[in-house]
Amino acid sequence: MKNASSYCNYNVAFKGYDSIRKPVGISETVDLLKKVKAQTHEITLLEGGFGTGACTEIICNHVKAVYGVEGSEEGCRKAHSKLCQCSNVFLLLGNILALPFVDSSFDAYMVHQVIHHLNSADNFRELKLFLKEAFRVLKSNGIIIINTCTPEHIDPDNGVFWSYKFIPKAAGELKRRYIPLDELKESLRQAGFTEIDTKKATGRFFKDSYYQNPLSVTDMEFCKGDSVYCFLTEEEISKANEQITQACRDGSVFEEMERANKRFEDIGEAVVVYGLKR
Ligand SMILES: C[S@@+](CC[C@H](N)C(=O)[O-])C[C@H]1O[C@@H](n2cnc3c(N)ncnc32)[C@H](O)[C@@H]1O
Repeated sequence: MKNASSYCNYNVAFKGYDSIRKPVGISETVDLLKKVKAQTHEITLLEGGFGTGACTEIICNHVKAVYGVEGSEEGCRKAHSKLCQCSNVFLLLGNILALPFVDSSFDAYMVHQVIHHLNSADNFRELKLFLKEAFRVLKSNGIIIINTCTPEHIDPDNGVFWSYKFIPKAAGELKRRYIPLDELKESLRQAGFTEIDTKKATGRFFKDSYYQNPLSVTDMEFCKGDSVYCFLTEEEISKANEQITQACRDGSVFEEMERANKRFEDIGEAVVVYGLKR
């Protein structure tokens, strides 16, 4: 059982991650915490796969304490240096499939863009293990909040990320790692959660340049920060970048960006799925 992503070496990816990405759906997460306690400042929250601490940095201002478990050493190092001044944040290197906490420890458990990194083999067996652990460490009346994309978001032809049109093989590989939304909800039910529902996440993952300047994705720093590129060789990345440059010349890239933007208005870039332990 791996301690971290099943396909991406985050000790490399995290070097430039914060310079291209932003958390999404945090306001929805904060709202959902009110289902547990009206005063969210009384909540003890666990964050799984906190990465560089980009969400931790925001959420810690809304709750009593945040405990985090992350599998990448580089992520832990970056998050520690970002959050070392926060006296209510406690970060650990570890595995979300085997949490180092006793039963009924937390009021809330959040994961932001993590579950597609679990091994999807055997009909998403690791995801089910993750949910079982989540149920175990939550207190009764606790909430699990999963921020994730769905296969629809990732689709290279009809999804919300315009650049995936130019890397269909990698986007297809990534898409297969996302459990369909209905199956995720059913898995939550089977793990024991009730009152399962979803919200569209507000916000966008990438910094503005991704949506404004198509050539921004041809920068290797950008490629290092989006795990979809883990499925491509350097040669394949160069070929895709040439196609983007050509599509800038003939204008077709801007049509694709507009299409993706319309799709974003419909479905957002991610969904927040939640359930309660009663
Ligand atoms: C896309 S990153 C998201 C990081 C952070 N939540 C954010 O949104 O900025 C996925 C994270 O999940 C972590 N991860 C994946 N599988 C894990 C596991 N089994 N145990 C702990 N962390 C894991 C990775 O190391 C990585 O930091």
